[in-house]
Amino acid sequence: MTETKKTPLLDELEKGPWPSFVKEIKKAAAHNISSQDLLGQLELSYEDKKAHWKHGGLVGVMGYGGGVIGRYSDVPEQFPNIEMFHTIRLNQPSGWYYNTKALRQVCDVWEKYGSGLTNLHGATGDMVLLGTKTEYIQTIFDEVSNFEEHPMDLGGSGSNLRTPSCCAGPARCEFAMIDTLDLCHDLTNEFQDYLHRPMWPYKSKIKISGCPNDCVASIARSDISIQGTWRDDIKINQEAVREYVAGGFDINGMVISKCPTKCIAWDGNELTIDNANCTRCMHCINKMTKALRPGDDRGATILIGGKAPILQGAMMGWVIVPFMKLESGSGYEELKEFLEKVWEWWDENGKTRERLGELILRLGMRNFLRAIELEPIPQMVMAPRANPFFFWWPEETVQD
Ligand code: HEM
Ligand code: HEM
Ligand code: SF4
Ligand code: SF4
Repeated sequence: MTETKKTPLLDELEKGPWPSFVKEIKKAAAHNISSQDLLGQLELSYEDKKAHWKHGGLVGVMGYGGGVIGRYSDVPEQFPNIEMFHTIRLNQPSGWYYNTKALRQVCDVWEKYGSGLTNLHGATGDMVLLGTKTEYIQTIFDEVSNFEEHPMDLGGSGSNLRTPSCCAGPARCEFAMIDTLDLCHDLTNEFQDYLHRPMWPYKSKIKISGCPNDCVASIARSDISIQGTWRDDIKINQEAVREYVAGGFDINGMVISKCPTKCIAWDGNELTIDNANCTRCMHCINKMTKALRPGDDRGATILIGGKAPILQGAMMGWVIVPFMKLESGSGYEELKEFLEKVWEWWDENGKTRERLGELILRLGMRNFLRAIELEPIPQMVMAPRANPFFFWWPEETVQD
């Protein structure tokens, strides 16, 4: 679209008090020819009530199968400047901490070789740069990976390990029980091959939260969710509890009655917790931060099977390892061995586009547990009272 065309349908989307992506694309279109064509094609999509993009096509850089997501227009004769409109994923730093120099470097590259449009950070966590041509991809990669300060790698895309992501963790949050930033960085480096060379049935995601508040929503959005936790007793400062109550805090309404396992009690003077029955949900701690603290014996709970829709419906992860010690500096060996076993089983048995959780449902928890060499335990039950979930092997049952 070299001459300026009218976009009456898109213009509708600029009305109202909300920010509008149309307004932003128009801004980019003022000095970028591919953004002009993007507006034109989008208008056509609204007229035709259908998307005019083709999925896929192989685009990549030397040695990498992931990180570049191919998009082609199905009406290139009308919009030649977006005949190709590929997306680049850049691996975000742990916890999304950029300095301004790093951001400027990325923007400069993207104004030079791309549409100038980004949607900073999708569910994967990567910085997402929208719209470039095949001929620029290698140059973009060479430039970002050679930034003077903060060189950047591509993120994951395709049937491989997606860019691991984590919460702000110990950098900014008093609740972090594991060093999410260190762990995320360590796993990203350790499994670089899986990130860049797609070879699995489908995507696999790891997300890491420092505590069960799960600020990166790892339980809903990742096949493997790692959440910091503790396994000793919650620390109680009784004096501080009494101060809360004296100050008018509704301890029964806000805390006692909301404990999911009803394991916390208040007799008017003392708060008691039956720690054996505490699920470490953090609710009481969140409500009374001055009085309650997690214990000192810290590590992580590992959940498995979370994913958005597509084949089966949306699934939440469920507990597979209630507690694993994860200390920065010690190499995270136990976790890495566990991940390798999980992926190996999924890779061998999964059908194309079948996520880990779906495969476990299809082949059964029994097979999964045998493959990853874990004993069944009650914490693995996916939903209380809904499924027995574990079945004995024939050789383990005795018949009279
Ligand atoms: C009906 C139309 C569309 C729907 C429902 C849709 C839906 C989605 C969803 C659910 C995601 C995952 C988001 C995330 O991970 O945060 C996604 C990501 C993506 N979409 Fe779309 N999409 C549509 C159209 C398009 C079009 C037209 C393009 C390209 C021109 C496109 C390019 C992408 C890319 C490159 C990603 C990955 C971005 C990222 O990692 O955040 N999509 N889309
Ligand atoms: C032209 C139409 C569409 C395009 C271009 C598109 C594109 C995409 C892309 C690029 C992704 C990210 C995949 C990845 O992470 O590699 C995605 C994910 C997703 N899309 Fe679509 N999509 C479209 C239509 C739809 C529609 C109609 C739905 C739902 C009815 C949908 C639901 C989803 C969901 C739920 C995900 C996330 C899957 C996950 O994280 O497991 N998409 N889509
Ligand atoms: S998940 Fe926990 S540790 Fe991470 S930012 Fe949220 S509250 Fe803090
Ligand atoms: S952490 Fe959750 S389960 Fe444990 S005592 Fe507090 S509210 Fe109850």
